[in-house]
Amino acid sequence: MEVRLATKAGFCFGVHRAIDLALKTVRETAPPIYSLGPLIHNPQVVAYLAEQGIEVVEEIERVPRGTLIIRSHGVEPKLLEKTRELGFTVVDATCPFVKRAQRLACDLNDSGHQVIVVGDRKHPEVRGIVGWTNGQAVVVEDRVEASALPFYPRVGVVAQTTQPHANLEAVVEELKSRMGEVLVCDTICNAVVERQNAALTLARQVDVMVVVGGIDSANTRKLTGLCRLSGTPTYHIETGDQLQSEWFRGCTVAGLTAGASTPDWIIEEVKRRMEELSEKEEVVGPEEEVNPEQEVANPEEEVVSPEE
Ligand code: F3S
Repeated sequence: MEVRLATKAGFCFGVHRAIDLALKTVRETAPPIYSLGPLIHNPQVVAYLAEQGIEVVEEIERVPRGTLIIRSHGVEPKLLEKTRELGFTVVDATCPFVKRAQRLACDLNDSGHQVIVVGDRKHPEVRGIVGWTNGQAVVVEDRVEASALPFYPRVGVVAQTTQPHANLEAVVEELKSRMGEVLVCDTICNAVVERQNAALTLARQVDVMVVVGGIDSANTRKLTGLCRLSGTPTYHIETGDQLQSEWFRGCTVAGLTAGASTPDWIIEEVKRRMEELSEKEEVVGPEEEVNPEQEVANPEEEVVSPEE
């Protein structure tokens, strides 16, 4: 079986930058060093950073003062202020594209627009953006939620950087049909769009798709959803040991892609393991494959990630 890697996959600019900043901080700063929440949504990378001395904290009040790294998803300004007031040295690894969304939301709010954020309301990036509007912004996840909003005479729209363009467009269409002035700031990140396009193109060419990335990674989950939309069986995993050989039975070409927070070393490991498993399937042969007790895996229901 041939394993093809998507033309764009894995670490994006913002994640590279956050990890470089974190490692530079480790080299140049005395401990303790913390990250406020996991630096990126990839448990293997977070474990590696922990080995280097970066401790993940959720509540800064309870830990000894030191250096605090703000993750690529960003935080609300009040939290930044509080951190400095408490005496922490702050290293801000917020992705510049997330910063742009925060700034635009802040400006729209200051200019009297009702800010509407299109995204996942539980995601830290979205919570941070809302914070930059003093909590005034409204979050909608999709067109249906947008249709339930009251009338606003002036609306400003920003999107979570990992949103699919189609969702933003659907929400904007709905808002334009019901609101007064609608000002749209497209804050969707190009790295995400490139990875989504490459994944979808590849998914249409292969027998099976594997998507690698953290189970909490929004952009990885969206890649998985997009690949499934193509009709190709698609599996979301975090590491190579979650692969199952039966996924590749009878396949001649498999596709591989990875979320923006997945490092190259995990992608390489998964690729190698996929090739090994497909060789194993070929050696076993069709007669030994037959197991009447075994249920046929339904890729739509094959839950590797608990969130899917
Ligand atoms: Fe930034 Fe885009 Fe990556 S917003 S963190 S470069 S996916």
